This record gives sequence, C-alpha cells and structure tokens, in this order.
Amino acid sequence: MGTDVAIDLGTSRTRIFIHGKGIMVNEPSVVTVNLENETIAAVGEEAYLMLGRTSSRMDVVYPLSGGVISDFGLVEAMITLLLKGVVSSKIGMPRAIACVPGEITEVEKRAVVNAVSGAGIRRVCLIEEPVAAAMGAGVDIETPHGSFVVDIGGGTTDMAVISLGGISVSHSIKQAGNTFDDEIIKYVRKKYNMLIGKRTAEQAKINIGCVVPGISDDTYRIKGRNLVTGMPDWVDLTADEMVEPLIETAETIVNYVQDTLEETPPELTGDIYNSGIILTGGSSQLKGLDVLINRATNLKVSIAEDPSNCVVRGCGEAIKYIDRLNKSDSGVNPIIDQY
Ligand SMILES: Nc1ncnc2c1ncn2[C@@H]1O[C@H](COP(=O)(O)OP(=O)(O)OP(=O)(O)O)[C@@H](O)[C@H]1O
Ligand SMILES: [Mg+2]
Repeated sequence: MGTDVAIDLGTSRTRIFIHGKGIMVNEPSVVTVNLENETIAAVGEEAYLMLGRTSSRMDVVYPLSGGVISDFGLVEAMITLLLKGVVSSKIGMPRAIACVPGEITEVEKRAVVNAVSGAGIRRVCLIEEPVAAAMGAGVDIETPHGSFVVDIGGGTTDMAVISLGGISVSHSIKQAGNTFDDEIIKYVRKKYNMLIGKRTAEQAKINIGCVVPGISDDTYRIKGRNLVTGMPDWVDLTADEMVEPLIETAETIVNYVQDTLEETPPELTGDIYNSGIILTGGSSQLKGLDVLINRATNLKVSIAEDPSNCVVRGCGEAIKYIDRLNKSDSGVNPIIDQY
C-alpha cells in the first residue's frame, strides 16, 4: 500500500498534501540550474532566494507560467526532489491527484500527468482547480446548490460556478499575482526612474498593495537602481498610490466575475445570491479586491480561511474519489479524471 498524495503545481508555489498527514510541502515553484554542467542546483525556497542574485553560471527559472508547464524537464525534476523529501521510497509509489486550471488543452493536461508520473507516481488523476478550491474552502460540492469560487493565484485567475461536483460556468484568465508585480515594476520605473526586481515588487504588493484608496495609510520602502544616476536608490511607496498600478488588472478580474454571473443559469444565480462569492488563492488577500467585487456585483464576498492552501487541501480531500473510480458500477465520475 502506497501513500496517496495531492499536488498543486502552482505558477508561484508548489504544494503537496499527504493523505493522513496534511500539507507537507509548500515551496516556491522555482528551480536553479547550474549552466556549466546542466544540473539542478536547488529547488523551492532555496532556489527562490537566488532569484535575481545569480552569476552567469546559474539560471533561476519558474518552470510554470500562466498555470501551465513551460519547461517540462524542470517541472519533473522539481516534483521528484520535493516528493523525495517527504515520501519515503520504501513505502511504495503513491497515487496522486494533481489539479489543473480550467480551459487548458489536452496536451497541457498530459504534460502535468507525465511530469507527476515521471516523479515515480504510478497512477495520476486530475481535478479542475476551481472544484478543488471550492472543496478546500469548505463547500460541499456534491449538493445541487450553486457556489461561485474565484481562485486568484500567481499566474491565473480561475473562476467557476459549481454545482453537483461539476462546473456550470467558468473562466480562466492569465492575469493574477504576477501581473500585479509586473505593473508595480513598470510604475516604479516610470514614476521614480527606478529599476526594481520581481521579489521587491512582490514584497511591496504583499505589504501595501491596495486596489481601493483610503483603506490603509501604510508605507513600504523599496530599494533598487536609479536609472538616471545608475546608483542604488530607495523610495517610500504609500498604499494609496499602489491603486494606480494595480487597478487595471483588478478591474479585469472584476469584469470576468460579472461575465460569469451573467452566464450563470438563473436557479444557480439564486443560490449564489444567498451564499455569495468565495475568494481563494494567494492574491485574494490583495487589499480591497473583495471590496471591488462586492461593489460591482452587490453580492457578499468572503475570503476563504487560509486562502493560499485551499486548492491543495481540496485536492487532498478529493483523494477519496480515487477509490470510487475503481468501482466500475459507479458510472461517470464528474469530480476527477484518471489518466
Ligand atoms: N498578502 C498578500 N497580498 C497580495 N498578494 C499576495 C499575498 N500573499 C500572497 N500573494 C500573492 O499570491 C500569489 C500566489 O498565490 P497562490 O499560491 O495561490 O498561486 P499559485 O497557486 O502558485 O498560482 P496559480 O494558481 O496561478 O498557478 C503570488 O503572486 C503572491 O505574491
Ligand atoms: Mg493555484
């Protein structure tokens, strides 16, 4: 008997849940490659610390982008190394559930399955990210009650109306946390003539990022290179000024939420009217995003508990469906697919 695992291969972070144990891996989806001998020098947290700080001999790569695998070999190696740290090979090759964003191609799904199998897993099932997010947020997905979940991650924002374990309406867009970071970099360059790295931009966003003015009067000091003098420089950013670079992406997300609601069958709309919209994913914590969605829809908007880990927890909960797949008389299983 092996150990069953659930894997959330996120654009920003990879999380692994082990049946009976909980979340055992939660590390940046980053790999450092030694270019001299083409070997992997580090993965996860250790690799993330090297981001923007390497020499010409080392390359630091995010092997997933926009929720899908962009470098297959590196993803496979990353999962293998992260799993090795938590699953002993003595207890046998586990079964796994991995999640994938909605609206990805069969080829992209196949790449996830192959990367996970390549890490030594004998049987791989896939679950759609919004369904996993809903389960992780505590929604009972098997009832006919409609729920609306918006998972705002690093590379994608996945939203879906879910009922009876299936997706009724969904949208997946490649605008999420990374887009916010890029907008901060552009803003600082234009307004202060200063060049900052991705990590600095992300830290500024997490500390003072805001999409509604007047919520916070915090400031955050960022350091970078002055593009006029070429010298190191710093600026104190305020929460209010962050609205300027962040609002456009936030409004794009809000527009998709409105579109999804407009496309939802009326009975389910009624359910959502009562239960509201649930936000999951790391970027759901961006200050004011819930307020913007509430203003645009007039619906109650709640941020799930521990929003960043909802998807992996939901995947972990979906492990119970693997055994149901085995029962030939159970018919079509709408929640997970076996590959
Ligand atoms: N407090 C916070 N405020 C704003 N953004 C945050 C906060 N904490 C984390 N984030 C952002 O959340 C994003 C990561 O979220 P998450 O871990 O859900 O993504 P992921 O699952 O790796 O990506 P994806 O689901 O898109 O493939 C990053 O962009 C990170 O900067
Ligand atoms: Mg995610």
